[in-house]
Formats: sequence, C-alpha cells, structure tokens
Amino acid sequence: MQHMVKDLKLKEIGRKKMNWAMDRMKVLGSIYRDLEKEKPFDGVNISMSLHLEAKTAVLAMYLQKLGAAVSITSSNPITCQDDVAAALTDDVSHVYAWRGETESEYNANHMKLLENGPNILVDDGADLTAMVASSGNGSGIYGVCEETTTGVRRLKALQDSANLKFPAIAVNDARGKYLYDNRFGSGQSVVDGIVRSTNIMLGGKSAVVAGFGWVGRGVAERLRGMGAVVTVVESDPFRALEAYFDGFTVTSMDRASQYGDVFITCTGDKRVISERHFSIMKDGAFLANAGHFDVEVDVAWLKANAVSSNDVRPNVTEFMLKNGKRLYLLAEGRLVNLGAADGHPIEIMDLSFSLQLLSALYLLKNHGMLENRVYPVPSEVDEGVVKKFLEINGVELEKLSSEQLKYIKSW
Ligand code: ADE
Repeated sequence: MQHMVKDLKLKEIGRKKMNWAMDRMKVLGSIYRDLEKEKPFDGVNISMSLHLEAKTAVLAMYLQKLGAAVSITSSNPITCQDDVAAALTDDVSHVYAWRGETESEYNANHMKLLENGPNILVDDGADLTAMVASSGNGSGIYGVCEETTTGVRRLKALQDSANLKFPAIAVNDARGKYLYDNRFGSGQSVVDGIVRSTNIMLGGKSAVVAGFGWVGRGVAERLRGMGAVVTVVESDPFRALEAYFDGFTVTSMDRASQYGDVFITCTGDKRVISERHFSIMKDGAFLANAGHFDVEVDVAWLKANAVSSNDVRPNVTEFMLKNGKRLYLLAEGRLVNLGAADGHPIEIMDLSFSLQLLSALYLLKNHGMLENRVYPVPSEVDEGVVKKFLEINGVELEKLSSEQLKYIKSW
C-alpha cells in the first residue's frame, strides 16, 4: 500500500498543502465547528471517491473528526496528489490512492472502499456508485452524495433503469454548486492547468471550447479574459445562440479544427475531437479535456495511429502524425485542471464541499425515510451555504421591506 510507506518529507509537504487549504475553507470550517460537539457521524462508515487533493483531504479530515470512519480513494487515476494522500493517512481510517494508478489498481482501490462496509458514499463521477450497482448489493448504504454533472447523469440512468438501490443527492445540481464550481471554478482551474503544463501565452491564441454548458461558459469566459480569441462549438441551438450573443465565434469542430491553437473539451460526451479533426489540425495544436472522463479527445486513436509519442514536459505528450504534424495532448486527455494543476480554487471547493458535508448529514438524519431516487440538495442547505459564504466574506445582502415583499408576491 503506497501510503502505508511513511515518507516524512512527502507527508510534510502534503500537510502544508492541507493547512493552506484549511485556513481558507472558512464555510466548511464554520460548519465543522457548529457540529464538533455533537459528532453526528459517530459510528458511520463513509467511503469517498473524490479527486484526492488538499481541499478534498480537508473535507475527509473534518468528516472523520465529526465521528465518521472515512475511507478514501481518488476518482481519477491521475488526480491523487501523493503528498496529500500521505499526510491524510494520519487523519482518516483508510487511504487507498496514488497518482498514476493502472485501470486495475483504480478498480481495486474502489473495491477496497466497498469492502469497508460503507453507510454513506461521497462520489465524483459515480464510479463508486456504479460498482455497487454492478454488484447488485447496496445493503447498509444509506445513500450517495454526487459531486459532478457526469455523475448525476449516470445516477439518473441508474434510477431510470431501477438499478439505484439507495437514495442519492445531486450535489452538482445545487445552485450553490454549479453556478460557481462548474463555471468560475472550471474557468480558472482549466486555464491554470493549460498554463502550468505548457507555459504558453494565451493572449492572441485561437482557443476552441467544445460545449457551452456551465463548464464551457466558464472556460470560454476566462480564456477570453486571458486574451485568447475564443470559438465555441455547440450542438444545442439555445446554447449556441447564447455563445453567439456573448460574442464568441460559433462553428463546427470540423471548421474550428482548421485554425485552432488550443482545444478544450467540456461536453461530457465521447469522441468530440477525433481522427478527422486531428488530420486537419495545425502543427503544434494543443488538446485538453475538462470533462470528467478521458473520452472526449480520442486518445486511443492518437496512441494507435501516431508515428511516435513522447512525453515532452510533465503533463504534455507529443504525438507525431503520419502527415508530419505534431499534436500536444495535455494530462493524458484526462481532467486538465486536476491532472496538471490543483483543481478548482479553494474558495470554490469550500462551497462545494460544504454542500457535500451537509448533504451527507441530510442522508444520515433522513435514513429510512427517503426513496431510492435522485434528490436535490434541500434548498435551505443550498441557500444556507451561500449565505454563510457571503457573511464570512463581508458581502451584505439588500433587505427587502415588507412593502416590497408584498408587492413582489402580488398579482
Ligand atoms: N478538487 C476536488 N474535487 C474537485 C473537482 N471535482 N473539481 C475540481 N477541483 C476539485
């Protein structure tokens, strides 16, 4: 077990990263202090499959301090930060993760989480939940809290096919989550991943963003803010028109492939950039993915058909094509913001993980009273987290007078 090895230096670095994040996760810290005495998770086994970086470690640590026995793995084979994982072994019951897991190691680490007899799952992308569904046995599980768009989509598919054997909370769909995390979080962290891995200037580059959902909107906005000339590729007419009115060039991937310098996929779908696009791209084009799975850029085709492939910088692989052009794939085509950077900014994950903690608490307190379906985050929890964030950050809300309240409800 990699993190049973006590590498002190690694641990020290990981601890410092956790402390840095913890100091800035003020909403989560305040929720923790509110619950500290009660220890509501006493005797509860929590299994977490989340990108194992510093903010995630802070959430896991708080859950354990609130009485839970926490087991954790990373929700992607390359998003575990080994120093953080090493430090976290001192705070939670089990850590089964390292960066660069093979597919079978990734699956085995998830299986270990299930062997610990979880009561609550905290999932990102629904791999853990899908594993339970495949086993056909969800006994002992009170429910799952799901972090991301792709995971919620999969949960709904499980629900619709009667394969969801416990209640689920769609944390992703809370307003306090997708409005900030998916948009501003991805916007900043995806730019961060591209810049850190390549060291290129974005100003003046032609950037192509596939998908104009919340993630794509944020990524397109922030790339524009860095001076890139941004094109949006969309299949949905409403989103396409929104991007158009927002001043982006909107076109097909076939056309954008002819001129783009940097491509970023944010769709959740597969083979968004594939053979026919690679073959017309400019020499030196960069390919990055911001979606949950590494299916958006057809990496398998590149691996099978390139004349050569070389890791030319950390998180940059050069593929030389038969036509003599070089394409640069970032972070193996996996989530560039977590594979090549630290994920979303701390303040963003403070909001998202506060919603996770309170949703897990909701599952616990309502155990036995919920159906096996996908529930939204209760609106009072959603609004409560956002209000706490505003209060902590000194942002004042306008108070409506009773006259105004009455008027706004009148017909
Ligand atoms: N850090 C931890 N989980 C994350 C996520 N789902 N997205 C971005 N950053 C993260």
